[in-house]
Amino acid sequence: MTTRTRTQVGIVGAGPAGLLLSHLLALRGIDSVVVENRGRAYCEARQRAGLLEAGTVELLRAVGLGHRMDAEGLEHGGIYLQFAGERHHLDFRELTGGRWVTIYAQTEIVKDLIATRLAADAVLEFEVSATEVADLDSDTPVLRYTDAAGERHEVTCDAIAGCDGFHGICRDSMPGGLITVRERGYPYSWLGILATVPPSTDELIYSRHQDGFALHTMRTPHVSRLYLQVPADEQLEAWPDDRIWAELQHRLGLPGWDLKEGPITEKAISPMRSFVAAPMRYRRLFLAGDAAHIVPPTGAKGLNLAIADVTVLARALTALLAEGSQDLADAYSDSSLTRVWRATHFSWWMTSMLHVDPDQDDFGAELQLSQLRYVVSSRAAATTLAENYTGYYPLDWPG
Ligand code: FAD
Ligand code: PHB
Repeated sequence: MTTRTRTQVGIVGAGPAGLLLSHLLALRGIDSVVVENRGRAYCEARQRAGLLEAGTVELLRAVGLGHRMDAEGLEHGGIYLQFAGERHHLDFRELTGGRWVTIYAQTEIVKDLIATRLAADAVLEFEVSATEVADLDSDTPVLRYTDAAGERHEVTCDAIAGCDGFHGICRDSMPGGLITVRERGYPYSWLGILATVPPSTDELIYSRHQDGFALHTMRTPHVSRLYLQVPADEQLEAWPDDRIWAELQHRLGLPGWDLKEGPITEKAISPMRSFVAAPMRYRRLFLAGDAAHIVPPTGAKGLNLAIADVTVLARALTALLAEGSQDLADAYSDSSLTRVWRATHFSWWMTSMLHVDPDQDDFGAELQLSQLRYVVSSRAAATTLAENYTGYYPLDWPG
């Protein structure tokens, strides 16, 4: 038996994009149903992003989600770039007229969003299976899923948002031939760890080392997050904890500076990829976040883009469903893709400048070092990095 219901917006995926979209729509009086194939605990624990652009922070505050972020987030006014045995500081506030970034983990944003949506009695279904979107040629597309208890549902919607990440079903549900994919693979991955040890740095260190890239970031004053460039097809078993610390010491180390070690509580390898699918809309099916685009994490843009997409989409859906105006819905894909391509270029640029390509010759290595020297010595070049890192395009959410 299938239970049939109705909502205004069906949302596939309870990652940051889907959860924030349902919250923003609720603020505008638009109801939604969110379906997620994982359990709540899994969604709240999945280790991913940590760095928020200034505009993302301001948006979360403006929509009532800033309370814990303001209490626990760590505001950073710059980063360190390390190469050729030297560490250089870039001061974002000074370079950009006051812009900054905040460390506040994606796990915490997801927890805040789930708690807020559940407190508002939102329909948020975890552990669903067999999700489908259909009737996409009509003005009333349907969302079908089987809930955790095994009951089949069909929800008739005025619009559907595919916020179901890179491996979701919505992108592939669009008509064949509609979407063009532009992508780039990278011949390396990131091995990321969480360690229970206070960060050894006040701000993030991006280190280009001849034996590979390393990044020192953090989660809290007591928890460090570190990443190492490893070969693309690397196995986790090849990296026992003592090898990870030895390699981090090697790639981040500098005379007179100490990298503190501690128990590793989590480790995982993530592939690096740039991927952009266009358009991000077919009639009343809209893609947002990783469902439409992926960037390598070197620019820290993925979560910020997901939040930006749904901020634009929430306005477009409000205009469409509450006012009957198509204009913002028609503009959604192009306006989002402008931001996405800026972040895609920046992430590719940071990645190419800081990683060691296994096929790279000395010519390539000298070009990287020259570019890094230019960034830390030219105000124009440093400003280019700073204004992209802190977020180039403003986010607009009329209060
Ligand atoms: P997701 O978080 O992938 O959420 C999609 C959801 O949809 C998932 O919960 C999934 O289970 C669900 N789903 C999938 N298929 C279905 C289905 N058929 N039915 C129902 N539900 C479904 N970004 C930054 O901005 N800053 C950073 O510092 C940063 N660091 C990163 C570090 C690493 C190691 C990695 C891997 C990523 C990092 N990112 C960073 C990227 C960021 O984590 C992602 O861009 C972000 O999670 C995208 O959010 P989303 O909601 O679009 O997708
Ligand atoms: C993180 O904190 O996980 C992080 C920060 C900056 C990046 C990537 C990841 O570029």
